[in-house]
Amino acid sequence: MRLSYRIGTAALLIVAIILIKRHLDLVQDDSRVQSGWSFNGISGGSDSSVPVASESKNDANAPAADSKDGFSVVGDANKDQSAADGDDDIALGSRPVYETTPIIVPNDRVIVMAKLSAEDTAWVSNDLADWRNYIYTVDDVNAAKHTPMNKGRESLAYLQYIIEHYDDLPSTIVFIHSHRDGYPGAWHTDTMDYSNVDSIRALQTDFVQRNGYANLRCQLSPGCPDEIRPFRNPPQSGQTTERVYAQAWKELFNNTDVPEVVAVACCSQFAVSREQVLQRPLSDYQWFYEWVLTTPLSDKLAGGVMEYTWHIIFGQDPVYCPDAYQCYEDVYGNPYFW
Ligand SMILES: *[C@@H]1O[C@H](CO)[C@@H](O)[C@H](O)[C@H]1NC(C)=O
Repeated sequence: MRLSYRIGTAALLIVAIILIKRHLDLVQDDSRVQSGWSFNGISGGSDSSVPVASESKNDANAPAADSKDGFSVVGDANKDQSAADGDDDIALGSRPVYETTPIIVPNDRVIVMAKLSAEDTAWVSNDLADWRNYIYTVDDVNAAKHTPMNKGRESLAYLQYIIEHYDDLPSTIVFIHSHRDGYPGAWHTDTMDYSNVDSIRALQTDFVQRNGYANLRCQLSPGCPDEIRPFRNPPQSGQTTERVYAQAWKELFNNTDVPEVVAVACCSQFAVSREQVLQRPLSDYQWFYEWVLTTPLSDKLAGGVMEYTWHIIFGQDPVYCPDAYQCYEDVYGNPYFW
């Protein structure tokens, strides 16, 4: 009994595969057939150009020959001939006006994200379907994409993406958190509903290309105008990002040019261009990655340091606090975006 079921199932599968294969072949054939457009507005596949074939051949030999070169789209001699013969206006007229369609290179932008294994990030594929996405689970090393440990909040995921794709980056890379929308989870996202879907849909990728870096939060607080003052005297109390920042800077950048003030609108959601990422060698990102992995700082503090360092890594001044309206205009195409 069982064996016969199995054989039956296998046979069904094979039939299904054959049918799918046939269907795919048919689809391909279709696409070949449909390309019979000539650019002057006559559909090469239609029979509109069949009549009057023989007379005009003698009348207008030169123009007809011209039109053959100028207008033919498909390599099908019959169609060209009949199209040219069928209508003298077209044969003698000026060159056709081509319809243009902007070329959108698929897969040329990506959303990079860190998530906890308990979090559901299906919304990214569902609601932002024209973006690729690359989502690292930070607390499960058996997940398909994962960071080696859960440290530095989102930092390891962001850096790991760059390291793994340094030679093959899409032109726009967006780094965001795992919350789709709503308060308090996504409180730091700027739209009415705190929605990362709305904000990413509105994102002006040409600004990202121009500026290299765009912070996705335009509300200045928290973060601006002077969140981190590494040399504040007396220092803040408690284990704050500010207190560990100067030392972390030296370790990250191999220099002692620690800025007086570091500021950026909070929360580590931003977009960068490939060109901007490539301003640094791969070894820099590996170095930052190792730093996050090995620093004795806590998860929170390592993440805090990176939160106030991304904009500097990606070419901006230590204080990056554009006017909020200007920011909305640049990043979302509307000064009253929220
Ligand atoms: C810092 O110095 C180390 C050791 O010389 C080097 O491997 C690393 O790439 C440097 N990192 C940066 C960001 O300059």
